[in-house]
This record gives sequence, structure tokens and C-alpha cells, in this order.
Amino acid sequence: MDALTRPIVPPAPPVHPGELPTWRLVWESLSNLAGFWAEDAFVYLVARRKSLGVDSIVINDPEAVRQVMGPKAGAYARPAAFIRPIRPLGGEGVLLAEGTEWRRQRRMLAPVFTPARMGGLIPHFTAAAQGLLARLQPRANLSVAFHEAALDAVLRALFSLPPGRVQADLAKVVRDYIKGPGRPNLLDGLSRSESDFPLAGWSRRRFAKRWHRLVDAVIAERRASADPQGNDLLGLLLSARDPETGEPLSDVEIRDQSATMLVAGFETTSRLLFWSSYLLALDPIEQERVRAEIAARPPETVTTLEDLQAWPRLRQVLMETLRLYPPVAVILRQATADDEIAGEKIGPGCLVWISPWVMHRHKAFWDNPTAFMPERFAGKPNAFLTEPAFLPFGAGPRICIGASFAMTEASIILANLLGRFHIGLESERAVLPVATVTTAPDHEPWFTLEPVEA
Ligand code: HEM
Repeated sequence: MDALTRPIVPPAPPVHPGELPTWRLVWESLSNLAGFWAEDAFVYLVARRKSLGVDSIVINDPEAVRQVMGPKAGAYARPAAFIRPIRPLGGEGVLLAEGTEWRRQRRMLAPVFTPARMGGLIPHFTAAAQGLLARLQPRANLSVAFHEAALDAVLRALFSLPPGRVQADLAKVVRDYIKGPGRPNLLDGLSRSESDFPLAGWSRRRFAKRWHRLVDAVIAERRASADPQGNDLLGLLLSARDPETGEPLSDVEIRDQSATMLVAGFETTSRLLFWSSYLLALDPIEQERVRAEIAARPPETVTTLEDLQAWPRLRQVLMETLRLYPPVAVILRQATADDEIAGEKIGPGCLVWISPWVMHRHKAFWDNPTAFMPERFAGKPNAFLTEPAFLPFGAGPRICIGASFAMTEASIILANLLGRFHIGLESERAVLPVATVTTAPDHEPWFTLEPVEA
């Protein structure tokens, strides 16, 4: 890429000049949540629409978004279309829990996800990064490689599971599910409740049984081991107590929470790693800048969360990647009661669309919104908590509990990669985002990896 073309404007699906007709809108929203937006979505703050009998509202107004995800959260639930594919993996875990049950779970999990605990997981992330480096070839499919590395990282952080038979079995079952019965389908889209179309859920139920057997075995083995505490999330879950009642988590709860972390954490973080590498391959000058920072503080000397502060530019690149290619492109809620948002009356059943994809590229909130400019996050290391229109991890009390986990993991893996290799692209063909469950590349490009001189 020519230095004169900076800042680069990385590829994105075309924006439609006007609102699409209903059927096309439904079809395109099922195939790409980043690709069906009309031009004015990046300008308006609130828009209303009725499609196929369903009332829906898009909210880009940061204040209104925070109301729905914060003080008014009790009047909004996750819709059945979101819950159905996740339930067999996440069970009754925190991602799908609602009301008092959610509050109890979140209370118990909060001490597990403190920054200090996340710092303790760095050895697992470093081991996953080293495994990645050992597998990489000069011509690499980083999309697949990061999938493997992120799964390795989360399985190590959860269960201290190094690569081996058990890790391979768990990884295969999750991958098969995500690619197969776990893919959201038309029936999910048409469901009004979780129990609609029960016959269609057969393969998901069969998967759940297999999955539960595998995770239960890992937990039973740990309980029986000489050191049930270990240095991982499972150890922390085993010793977690409800601060109000002193109750521990049951085995089923531990299984569902572990599985929830796996499902919520692995694909999202692998997308962050992919898109940040892609952006740095498009912008070699930026890549060199980050590499200089890493050379000054090599990854093998980074052992605590504070040490990560030695890489501010890397963090800005990760933030800018989350802005341009948010792994979760749309957050959906469904009203369960009457309400009013930004002056609009909302009735039960109304579908509320909150789109990080749109808000992160909205003309009212960002200068040069489509350009890759990591420096916009300079001095804002926790922009996902402080910037009103930046919500890669959601917002309010249900904000992603794994945000610090994901940022730590991505920093360690990317720093190891950049410290070892110059990343380039074999072809100039644009890689476009396709957002369904997460924001994936439309094809898996070949990256070139050239060793960095010692
Ligand atoms: C770059 C990586 C990640 C992104 C972009 C991301 C994004 C999100 C978003 C947008 C939400 C809110 C969803 C909603 O409100 O409907 C969320 C919730 C959640 N995330 Fe993440 N996530 C990431 C990594 C992780 C990791 C690594 C873990 C666990 C280790 C995790 C666990 C969770 C859980 C448990 C929730 C539900 C929290 C609740 O409802 O109280 N996530 N995430």
C-alpha cells in the first residue's frame, strides 16, 4: 500500500442509496448484518419500521441505547432468534439468563473476571500464541489459524487444557456445532418463542447431550484432582461463592458458565485477531509503528496486565479494529412491556436494533468514520467504557464480562505474531465483512509471513 494513500479506507459492503423493499431487507439482513443498511442509517438517530407484521426500531442515539441496555433493561429481553442457537451450548449460563437469576449469576461471576484475575491468565495466552507461531507457514490462512489459536487460548484459560485428545474432542464438537446445527436459520428468525418448531431442534438437543457429557467429564476430573483450584477459570468457578448467600455454584451451573465463556469468547476474539491483522497488512506503516513498540518491550517479558501498558499503539489498533469490524455487528432486544424510546412509543414485541456496525461508522459521532485511524483512540485505553458511540462489547450492566479477557488475549497473540513476522497479503482482492453470528471475512485470504530480522 502506498504511503500517500493513508489513512486507508478498508473494504466494507456498499451502502444502499435508499431503504430496501421488505423481502430484500429480510433476506439481506439474514445473510449479512453489515450489508443491508441504507445511507441514511449512518445519519439518523432513530428510525421506525414495520416488516412482515413485526414492529421494529433502529436506535443510533447513544443516550437512548444506554437507557435500553441500562435502567430500562427490565423491559427488554433477548429475542428467541438469538437464544435458540445458543441455548444448547450455553444452557442456563449468564449470557441467556434474565431478571433475578441473571443478577445472581453476574454477582457470582464478577470476582472471577477482575483485571487481576485476567492478568493471571497471561501464561495461557502466551502458550496459545507460541502454539500458533509453531504452526504457521510462510503462506498462512490466518482466519483458520486464529480460530485454532483462540479456541486453544480459551480452553487453556478455562480448563488448563493443553492441545491433546480432550482439547481436540471439545474443539471438534464446538466447531461442528457452529458450522452445522448451531447456525441461526430461517426458523429461528420466524420463532416468536424459544419452544417454537420443536422438531427442528432435534439435532441441537442431540448435540447438547454430547456436549454436556464432555464438559461434565472435565469438571469431574478436576474435582477429583489433587489441585482442584488450578490457575484457570474453572478453578475460580469451583471456588466462587454468592456474596449475598455464600452458596457455591452447582456442577450444572459450572458447566453452563464454562460453556458460555467458550461460546461467547472464542469466535469473537478470533475475528478481532483476523481483522486487526488484515488492517495492519493493508497499512504497513502502521504495522511498523506497532512492531517498534513490541520490539521495545518483547512479549516474553510481559507477564502482568500492567505490562500491557507498554503497548499503547497496539491497543489503539485493536480498538480501531473493533470500531471498523465489530465482531458483534448487531445487538437485538425485544420489548416485553410498554415503553418510550427517544420519543417513540414502544409496545411489547417491538424489536429493537442496536448496531455497533452502524454506530461505529455514524457520521454524527466520528471524523472520517470509514478510515483506519488508530490514533483516534490515543489516551482512551478503555474507550468501550467511555466513548458514547463505541459499543463493541455492548453497554450497561450486561456489558461483555469477558472484555478484559478478550483484550488481553488479543494483545498477547498479536504482539507475538508481529514480533516474529511482517504480515502481508498475497492478493489485492478486497476482503469484505459478512456479519451473521460474528463478523467474518467473505473469503479467507492468504497472508504472507516474512520473518522479522533479529
Ligand atoms: C472481541 C471479543 C468479544 C466481543 C466483541 C464481545 C462482545 C460482546 C457483546 C456485544 C456482548 C453483549 C451482548 C448483548 O448485550 O446482547 C457480550 C456479552 C457477553 N460476553 Fe462477550 N465479547 C467478546 C469476548 C468475550 C469473551 C472472551 C468472553 C468470556 C471469556 C465473553 C463473555 C461474554 C458473556 C458471558 C456475555 C454476557 C454477559 C451478560 O449478559 O451479563 N465475551 N459480549
